[in-house]
Amino acid sequence: MSDFPHLFSPGRIGRLAVRNRIIMAPMEKNLATPTGAVTQRYIDYCTARAEGGAGLIMLESMYVHPAGMGHRYQLGMHDDELITGYRRLVEACHRHGALVGAEIYFAGRETSSAVTMTQPVAPSAVPCTAIAGGEMPRILTIREIRDLVEAFAAAAVRAVASGFDVIEIHGAHGYMIGQFLSPFSNRREDEYGGDFERRLRFPVEVIRAVRAAAGTDVPLLYRTSADEHVEGGLTPADARRIAPHLEAAGIDLIDVSAGIYESAPWIVQPMEMPQGCLASLAAAIRPAVKIPVSVAGRISDPHVAESILAAGTADFVTVGRALHADAEWPRKSREGRAHEICYCVACLKCSDLLGQNEPVLCLANTQTARERHYAIRAAARREQIVVVGAGPAGLEAARVLALRGHAVTVLERESEPGGQLLLSRHIPGRSDFAALAGYLAGAAGRAGASMRYGVDADENLVLELHPHAVVVATGAAPGMPCIPGMDDAPVVAAFSVLRKRSGDIRRVLVIGGGMLGVGIAHALAERAGEVTVVEPGNDLSAELGVRPRWQYVANLRARRNVRIYLGTTVEALGSDRALLRQAGQDVELRGLDLIVPARPMVPQMKLAAILKTVAGGPAVFDVGDCALPRTAFEAIQDAAALGHRL
Ligand SMILES: Cc1cc2nc3c(=O)[nH]c(=O)nc-3n(C[C@H](O)[C@H](O)[C@H](O)COP(=O)(O)O)c2cc1C
Repeated sequence: MSDFPHLFSPGRIGRLAVRNRIIMAPMEKNLATPTGAVTQRYIDYCTARAEGGAGLIMLESMYVHPAGMGHRYQLGMHDDELITGYRRLVEACHRHGALVGAEIYFAGRETSSAVTMTQPVAPSAVPCTAIAGGEMPRILTIREIRDLVEAFAAAAVRAVASGFDVIEIHGAHGYMIGQFLSPFSNRREDEYGGDFERRLRFPVEVIRAVRAAAGTDVPLLYRTSADEHVEGGLTPADARRIAPHLEAAGIDLIDVSAGIYESAPWIVQPMEMPQGCLASLAAAIRPAVKIPVSVAGRISDPHVAESILAAGTADFVTVGRALHADAEWPRKSREGRAHEICYCVACLKCSDLLGQNEPVLCLANTQTARERHYAIRAAARREQIVVVGAGPAGLEAARVLALRGHAVTVLERESEPGGQLLLSRHIPGRSDFAALAGYLAGAAGRAGASMRYGVDADENLVLELHPHAVVVATGAAPGMPCIPGMDDAPVVAAFSVLRKRSGDIRRVLVIGGGMLGVGIAHALAERAGEVTVVEPGNDLSAELGVRPRWQYVANLRARRNVRIYLGTTVEALGSDRALLRQAGQDVELRGLDLIVPARPMVPQMKLAAILKTVAGGPAVFDVGDCALPRTAFEAIQDAAALGHRL
């Protein structure tokens, strides 16, 4: 008996049978050509998810007209030329038993002319300052609205010609259809706005036109933001009221999501939000319709998926990043190997890469979006390789090298693997990061690497193992900044402050508001009376990128006992005080009983330097923070590149 009887029971959408209840969420990947065509890399990505067992794979939001595209390397559905590529993709997925769906959309106010080469258009002149850049959209004329309805219908014809099994109308996330529905963005006073019925008019016209174009056989899905989480936006009560109208217009499944760009953390939820956080929205909609309902929202653990289905909250689960992180999430769950899943930790690196028009890679899984490039190829010769350090870089290097057939020994000073990832355990809301360490270590072990913990490796110990090559992944540690008075000040090293619970703390100064400094401030704010963070730059956690730091920083700012000084330097320290300089003004902090420097990060490169001088010794490679301190993402990427090369 499977642990997940509901998840793996066959489902039905309209006339279509689906092999299980897992819908892969549409996710832009930035893997298309600039003209919106599918690439081999895109097909490889989807084929891996089809092989991995997803029931229905939704691709991504596909623009019905180039004026409505949101990113440079997004898929289009605006041109007949695209059909041949899609046919290849659909056939590749069908060979592995998965169905495939096209999500059609138009960005409207949530894009910019930098992408579309033309001024964005929208129901009303409401600019989108969040993410899209705040360009004033041009108000659509009635004629243009009708043309847009036709563009959706023409896209549906192409989707059917491409062989897609289902078509989803993207009514969520504040794009054009949502823009018409929502009083937040629709301020019109004509037949397309002003009251509920008139705001509903455009979505219903699109659904009817798409239904007429697609015929009666192809199931139509509709994605909704069942709570827009903005003042004046759509509420769960609105979503419940809208749902029967969607059903009546011809929709076969409602896919529940949330948020618009102004409330972006509700579209792609950060790790601070709990798994399955949108389930209650689906539960409210389901009784209002007879068609099936699916729900998205940080469903990373198959047990969470199973419980949503078992409770009757939804008929399907829409799983995005969990399948991005592990294409085999369904298969591993079904085969009793859930402990082998490479879990999405909701770090939002994927979202951030999307915003940068870069291929959407994954922190946890280096093969994601590089399925062919990083397919495991046996090493030409099996070699003894010693990896020093079981942080993220060391573990990823060990995993790949062992999979390729090398004899790999990992030496780690601490009693458990994970390196800096483990520090996240002590940071409120960030403990999921530590789980990634467990996966990476387990995966390296399963690949055949021999793991030795509690071993403080020096050059003699390494050389005794007679390695052909040594991968040094000894990481970085916070150094001591050179500030006058440092020696008299109550300074404590950053890592030990996180690891050890200190006694009574009244006032703390954290020097450096990078990713580590913010983490320390979060942790200490729960234990201390007052925490002050001083950062010379203009942003907190700047190295993390806009989306990954969004909630992390917002939560810190929301803490009442935290003060943040940006654009500020620490000029001098004393036994209980600090002198700051901000915009040419001095600021003195008094009564400090703890000072924690969280910068600079210093590479731990001593072992690598010694080993490189050994005459006739092994080849030495340094990876991750000991080569250059950055984030875990870069460390893991570096390590994978080396692992596939040696
Ligand atoms: C990189 C990325 C791209 C996304 N692109 C789309 C998209 O094209 N269309 C869409 O409806 N939702 C998109 N989403 C939202 C997801 O479909 C999903 O609702 C969200 O990530 C929450 O589900 P998850 O926690 O399972 O990932 C995207 C999410 C991510 C992370």
